[in-house]
Amino acid sequence: MKKYLDKLPKEMRGLVLLISRLAEANNAPVYLVGGFVRDLILGVRNLDLDIVVEGDGIKFAELLAGKLDAGVTLHRRFGTASINAGGHLKIDIASSRLERYPAPAHLPEVTCGVLKDDLLRRDFTINAMAISINRGDFGRLIDCFRGKDDLIGEKIRILHPVSFIDDPTRILRAVRFEQRYGFKIEPVTLGLLKEANALKMLQKVQPHRVRDELILILKEERPLLPLIRIKGLTGLGFINDGLSLSKGAQGLLESAASQIRWFRSNFPKRRKLDSWLIYLMALLDPLNIRSIQSICSRFAMRKGEEKRLVACKKTGGVFIRKLSSKTTRPSQVHKLLEPLSYETIIFIRAKFKNKYLRKNINNFFGVYNGMRVHITGADLHKLGLTPGPYYQKIFRQVLGAKLDGLVTTKQEELELIGRIIKKRKIK
Ligand code: CTP
Repeated sequence: MKKYLDKLPKEMRGLVLLISRLAEANNAPVYLVGGFVRDLILGVRNLDLDIVVEGDGIKFAELLAGKLDAGVTLHRRFGTASINAGGHLKIDIASSRLERYPAPAHLPEVTCGVLKDDLLRRDFTINAMAISINRGDFGRLIDCFRGKDDLIGEKIRILHPVSFIDDPTRILRAVRFEQRYGFKIEPVTLGLLKEANALKMLQKVQPHRVRDELILILKEERPLLPLIRIKGLTGLGFINDGLSLSKGAQGLLESAASQIRWFRSNFPKRRKLDSWLIYLMALLDPLNIRSIQSICSRFAMRKGEEKRLVACKKTGGVFIRKLSSKTTRPSQVHKLLEPLSYETIIFIRAKFKNKYLRKNINNFFGVYNGMRVHITGADLHKLGLTPGPYYQKIFRQVLGAKLDGLVTTKQEELELIGRIIKKRKIK
């Protein structure tokens, strides 16, 4: 495995070596585990470093966070910790039981030994491998469940027969990994998955855990693939009985994907989209507002997420007609779209294919959104206006005029304000 570690991007390799040195200095052997090892072997980029420390993982996490000058979250009760190492880099740390060695500096040939308990708790063989990063043993693969064979054979396999009963969210995880890597859930695992589904295990698990796995599915590069597979294996009743992922719904998800790509390539400087939320809007589109609100409350979605999910349902026929008209003025387009989240707007663009609607949204992102007026509160003050709700009204009117091309320069804005005040035309 050393050759794989050598191929890591420079920053990540530096981090692994730093952890390795810290482990040696503190006589606390450390192993890379889980998805990081899986992706290392597959040659897939992964910035979530998962490590197991033999002994006190909490103490090690504190030391490591100190070295990295990074924030650390400790879960003392579980002996786990999480370090945000800057950028997208994250380090999850777990503790394993301590093994006593005959001579302290001499590491034994770890096969499964100290890691067995940790690895056995994991979901699939491909996620249950470890790599030692300890001196004298650096780069050695610890593969108790033939995970590497399954990676090569492209199989998703659980570690023991009650795995799906112990943790039903693994039903969704199995599908996610299968579809992400183009693998196959192997027959015995598939049989046990179906048995767990027949027992309605996904309905019995804590809803927020299902939510988290659903979000992970929607964050996949191509979420439609796992969703179609889930439809075939378990159906989508664990979200809501009214969901069937019909051909029409699949088309909407595809359209959402292409609109997300459109936004990313045309507006790279705008804020990053919560694309999973757009996919969720598409998935829940056949449902009414009440059903969506009830899903949000069962899944304990955040208020901001619920607001965005529901907003697209509130934009009725009049809204869409106005947005689809060739003659709707820029200021009106701005007024329609400004209160909505980017996610909601992208979803609308995915659902409605009208040429003018799409053009208006394009103009909104490209021109209208973010357009500012020259005048400031100080300018209004100089004109003798006392601060108050007036200010907002004036700003809005001037911005509207600017969007419609009626004023351009600051002088023109001031002249417009003069006219507004004179005619008391502050609407
Ligand atoms: N894990 C598990 N059962 C779960 C969740 C996680 O066994 N229900 C284990 C797996 O070994 C997994 C590791 O915890 O590899 C980390 O979990 P997570 O970050 O969710 O998965 P990754 O494998 O890192 O997958 P991804 O690439 O999607 O981040």
